[in-house]
Amino acid sequence: MGKCRVLFFLLSIFSLFSFFLPTLHALPLSTSSRWIVDEKGQRVKLACVNWPSHLDLAVAEGLTKQPVDVISKKIKDMGFNCVRFTWPLYLATNNSLASTTVRQSFTNAGISKDVVANLQANNPSIVDLSLINAFKAVVGSLSKNKVMVILDNHISKPGWCCADSDGNSFFGDKYFNPNLWVKGLTKMATLFKDNPFVVGMSLRNELRGPMQNTKDWYRYMQQGAEQVHKANPNVLVIISGLSFDTNLSFLKKQPLFLTFTRKLVFEVHHYSFTGGPKWRVGNANQVCADMTNNLMQNAGFLMDQGFPLFVGEWGLAMVGTSESEERYLNCFLGWAMEYDLDWGLWTLSGSYNVKLGEVGAAESFGLLNRNWTDVSNEGIFQRISTIQPLRQGPETSYRHKHKIIFHPATGLCILKTTGMGVQLGNCSESNHWDYTPQNTLAIEGSYLCLQAQGSNRPARLTINSQNTGTKWVQMSDSKLHLATELSNNNNTTVCLDVDSGHNLITNPCKCLSKDIKCDPGSQWFKIADACDFY
Ligand SMILES: *[C@@H]1O[C@H](CO)[C@@H](O)[C@H](O)[C@H]1NC(C)=O
Ligand SMILES: *[C@@H]1O[C@H](CO)[C@@H](O)[C@H](O)[C@H]1NC(C)=O
Ligand SMILES: *[C@@H]1O[C@H](CO)[C@@H](O)[C@H](O)[C@H]1NC(C)=O
Ligand SMILES: *[C@@H]1O[C@H](CO)[C@@H](O)[C@H](O)[C@H]1NC(C)=O
Ligand SMILES: *[C@@H]1O[C@H](CO)[C@@H](O)[C@H](O)[C@H]1NC(C)=O
Ligand SMILES: *[C@@H]1O[C@H](CO)[C@@H](O)[C@H](O)[C@H]1NC(C)=O
Repeated sequence: MGKCRVLFFLLSIFSLFSFFLPTLHALPLSTSSRWIVDEKGQRVKLACVNWPSHLDLAVAEGLTKQPVDVISKKIKDMGFNCVRFTWPLYLATNNSLASTTVRQSFTNAGISKDVVANLQANNPSIVDLSLINAFKAVVGSLSKNKVMVILDNHISKPGWCCADSDGNSFFGDKYFNPNLWVKGLTKMATLFKDNPFVVGMSLRNELRGPMQNTKDWYRYMQQGAEQVHKANPNVLVIISGLSFDTNLSFLKKQPLFLTFTRKLVFEVHHYSFTGGPKWRVGNANQVCADMTNNLMQNAGFLMDQGFPLFVGEWGLAMVGTSESEERYLNCFLGWAMEYDLDWGLWTLSGSYNVKLGEVGAAESFGLLNRNWTDVSNEGIFQRISTIQPLRQGPETSYRHKHKIIFHPATGLCILKTTGMGVQLGNCSESNHWDYTPQNTLAIEGSYLCLQAQGSNRPARLTINSQNTGTKWVQMSDSKLHLATELSNNNNTTVCLDVDSGHNLITNPCKCLSKDIKCDPGSQWFKIADACDFY
């Protein structure tokens, strides 16, 4: 009895300790096959939000709205462990720009006294700093709050990004001198080399336009990567592809040669509008299949080559979200859950100081509202937060792997209730499911498995001792439908579904192909791996 108590006590201490582990990473980070890991070899999953600081004023957005520490704390409270913090190259290479004060930058742009007064009131310690010191102050605030930072060189000349013809598109473009770029990267890497919370540098955002070619890509990415690593050997070197960072497929044939190892991460971007208006004009199952196939072909294959893949930008309008964006979100969440990807949401900003000439422009993709006080869309935020926790990792880091059954449209997973019922609930509290070779969905270590009872009737658990349980097939192009044949007279096929009251039921399968109006979201489920870590 006594022994048991001591053991129990030790176990509780241990679990308390491991509960805190995820926030106490042993920095710096490095890579181990497709995973980003800390010094102890524990996986660190980057769940980032983009915080823009590359627009016309070269000042972090939001500082007129809230104190920097309030914003940093908010980021942490929202469950992000990382910020992709953007900077314009000239901030590092043009001394006259870097030494301009924040106040001057606002007044030079003709911004009204009221706005500057708000800046002064919210951030009195920043308003008279030089732009480069203000940038450092924001990184300092994030670090103080234990938020990791990825410095992202977003553009050369401060301003809104990105267009083919904005002069910042590719090496050799009007504002994009490759040598100056390497110099600026080196300077930035050096500037932050003593800050362990600066965990990565994303070398250049969204290369694009008619000048882009792989020859220059290999040449300059190699130079940039080597110099950054030399200046700060601790940071992850994060490299983007061509065509607005949607295409890294050329790496299949020709790898990027670097002299250092275990620091290289690749970055890809994906929005609902990537590759055209597909989500508006196609059947959602087919478009989702296309989207994930393209992502795997153009970037996802790098995980098989042993590199982490960072989806550095994705996102959707939080205000006035369209149906097509909802479908994109469901598909994206499924993909992100399947691979437990590292990612960065575009964007934190509820508004911009100046965007394309408009002072105080609103950002519909903003996670925060226009006043930077709170999330602008609680429902979408809740669903996004499902992909923040770490669920998978290197084989050496977990005891056991099980399945969860994720429903992207609600951001919830299938859980057993008391008795033989099932309901949607928090994915982090999911039962350990097993998707067996017989295609049953069973709760591990029991004879219980998920059973369909009939059209428009609740799904429930049944005892499957004779292996007669419902067989679930991942159906439709998206493979997100879980279909089964009912053992009635007509052998009707039904799909697992969620009704308006969030109950799990089975219904005729919907929108399997062709139909572009129909939304299959309620019937989309992703069976994904989740690990029990040591
Ligand atoms: C450097 O910055 C200053 C101040 O913003 C600007 O006037 C100047 O044009 C910049 N120089 C270059 C070469 O971009
Ligand atoms: C990706 O880039 C390569 C190299 O430029 C090109 O050959 C290929 O067609 C591109 N793929 C797509 C899908 O655009
Ligand atoms: C922002 O603040 C202003 C002034 O306090 C208020 O009128 C407005 O409703 C707020 N907007 C949002 C989106 O919270
Ligand atoms: C889900 O469960 C985890 C772990 O128990 C908890 O930390 C988290 O806050 C929960 N999420 C929600 C939305 O309740
Ligand atoms: C089988 O299908 C027929 C014709 O569609 C229908 O009338 C009947 O109710 C169905 N039987 C069952 C058990 O679902
Ligand atoms: C239902 O399926 C079973 C097994 O495949 C088959 O033997 C039976 O003929 C089917 N019944 C109908 C009405 O299609």
